[in-house]
Amino acid sequence: MNELIIEMEDLVKEFPHTNEAQKKAWKTAVAGVTLSVGRGEVFGLLGPNGAGKTTIIRMLTMQTRPTRGRIRIGGRDIETDAQEIKKRIGVVPQHVNFDQELTVWQNMELHARLHHIARAERTARIERLLAEMALTEVRNDSVRRLSGGMNRRLLIARALVHDPQVLFLDEPTVALDPQIRRRIWDFVRDLSRRGVTVFLTTHYIEEAEALCDRVAIINKGRLIAVRTPREFCVRLGAYAVEWDEAAGRDYRFFHTHEEARAYARTLDEAMQRVLLRPTNLEDVFIELTGRKEGL
Ligand SMILES: Nc1ncnc2c1ncn2[C@@H]1O[C@H](COP(=O)(O)OP(=O)(O)O)[C@@H](O)[C@H]1O
Ligand SMILES: [Mg+2]
Repeated sequence: MNELIIEMEDLVKEFPHTNEAQKKAWKTAVAGVTLSVGRGEVFGLLGPNGAGKTTIIRMLTMQTRPTRGRIRIGGRDIETDAQEIKKRIGVVPQHVNFDQELTVWQNMELHARLHHIARAERTARIERLLAEMALTEVRNDSVRRLSGGMNRRLLIARALVHDPQVLFLDEPTVALDPQIRRRIWDFVRDLSRRGVTVFLTTHYIEEAEALCDRVAIINKGRLIAVRTPREFCVRLGAYAVEWDEAAGRDYRFFHTHEEARAYARTLDEAMQRVLLRPTNLEDVFIELTGRKEGL
């Protein structure tokens, strides 16, 4: 890997909560995660709801403090260099958090001022970003009137106003229609080509597969594995045979096409609706976590 931009070392987050016996206790949301992301990578955290994805992104972006462990961004420690790091990162939160009283332009302007961007530069950047996100026409509308897709695009535009080197996106396309999702994917790829490091979370397997150079699968606060989508599939076996059993669809994975074909021939093709196909990240996810997305 080239220069490391995001480094996590044995990261832990415990939240205080009250258990069934009404006793104060700790709930472990993130249970010791170590991983690194290189410059220009699109890196995805994939895991079911409650896996700890948002908590990790909130620690990386200094919105909540780790219970234990270390984080370095661009070689700087978040404990000692938070202000410097904040200048270099952009954050797209899971939930919309605009000032509802302001217009699209005013929300962008407010963010740019917080980052001390000079007036001329500010106007040029806001115009460019609103155009890139197809929001120029609504620039003077109150954010209250925006659709879900527009809100998400505006969150991304706002996160980029200060030209960050690292962009964090928490579930960037949740509840968006497929066209808008694909536009956001294209935009993220383009950012990465321009050298921006992208760290995103998703519970959509297809999003991780389509977009990420590398994927970390997490479950119950623990890291299960980190690889490229292709490596995940090759390890499991690049060829999948699936067929009907009394209990439902069953699957087996093979490293060569010949082995897969030979196995498929032992099944009753018509009765069992046998299918030989390339293995995908969903197969990997189910094998590793024992569950389907969103469940
Ligand atoms: N502020 C909090 N207080 C208590 N528990 C929390 C808090 N935030 C998250 N959790 C718990 O931590 C776990 C991980 O949550 P989260 O990071 O939001 O998961 P994900 O984003 O993967 O869905 C969940 O069990 C959640 O209920
Ligand atoms: Mg989340």
